[in-house]
Amino acid sequence: MTSDETRGDDPGMREIELLREEAEAALAGAGSSADLEEARVNLLGRKGRLTALLQGIKDLPPDKKRMVGMQANLLKDWLEKALEERGEELRRRELDAELRAEKVDVTLPGRHLPFGTRHLVSAIIEEIEDIFIGMGYRVAEGPEVELDYYNFEALNTPHWHPSKSLQDTFYVDASASGREDVLLRTHTSPVQIRVMEATTPPLYVIAPGKAYRHDVPDATHSPMFHQVEGLAVDEGITLGDLKGTLEHFARRMFGEDRAVRFRPHFFPFTEPSAEVDVSCVICGGEGCRVCKGTGWLEILGAGMVDPNVFGYVGYDTEKFSGFAFGMGVERIAMLKYGIPDIRYLFDNDLRFLAQF
Ligand code: PHE
Repeated sequence: MTSDETRGDDPGMREIELLREEAEAALAGAGSSADLEEARVNLLGRKGRLTALLQGIKDLPPDKKRMVGMQANLLKDWLEKALEERGEELRRRELDAELRAEKVDVTLPGRHLPFGTRHLVSAIIEEIEDIFIGMGYRVAEGPEVELDYYNFEALNTPHWHPSKSLQDTFYVDASASGREDVLLRTHTSPVQIRVMEATTPPLYVIAPGKAYRHDVPDATHSPMFHQVEGLAVDEGITLGDLKGTLEHFARRMFGEDRAVRFRPHFFPFTEPSAEVDVSCVICGGEGCRVCKGTGWLEILGAGMVDPNVFGYVGYDTEKFSGFAFGMGVERIAMLKYGIPDIRYLFDNDLRFLAQF
């Protein structure tokens, strides 16, 4: 090597020049703090290129040492400062972006989360339950897919009774079940039998649930509807107890000034039987469109448990007597709120359902 070599020709100096160019490009090209850190490690890290260069200085011949050492240290000083400046700039930009992304516009209207409510049918069932629980009743349930025995036979319903016909009752396909006595219960009365089979008197039970009949939907019929069954069995239960119980129920449900009347009727499983009316909730008994001018609205069927039914469950008919009743939940909802068509209850139109 000659003493008149220019700086650029000196390999040490050339490498410094090269590193500086690379460092400038890396700094300018770094789009994030992470990029910049990568560049720093490449140059100034423990195995960095500039670090290696600085470590190599001590092995250079004395005449190079001074020049290369000085330039390398200048490059290092410049680079450290440049890294810091560029780092600050990038951090500021990143923070800005972060703040912009997290910005909360307090002037925006709140997000509306609509609350669900209980369906009117469920609400009425709970209301009925509350009234009877208040009189000491407990709540029982039974299957919707029933056996002929519970739905008809043990309820003293003769095999020739018209309600057993295919026109009135949904039977479960015999080819699927392997038997011909499986059906969708046509009322909640089978729960009476199931409760009596499982317990001994005294018993005071209500049983809410779905029932199914082969009806074409119209303003007052639906092939699926809800009933609440009631059953009380004890020593010395009389028709007077039934009347008092239902009167109390009607007044709690429809208002304290309601009158209740019993009309003779027939059910196979009660004797005597009655259909029970409440004075019209709309006109108070004067006669209007809703009560068809009679002043009365039919709300349920009821009667004293037929001794034949006690025979099916092995109750002592000399010792015990009881009453039973069954009410249509949709009908009660319609009467209470003046709903003109049962189908509103099953259409799932929120404009209707949200009113309750
Ligand atoms: N199960 C009868 C019906 O669905 C109602 C009823 C229940 C009548 C209990 C008397 C006693 O029509």
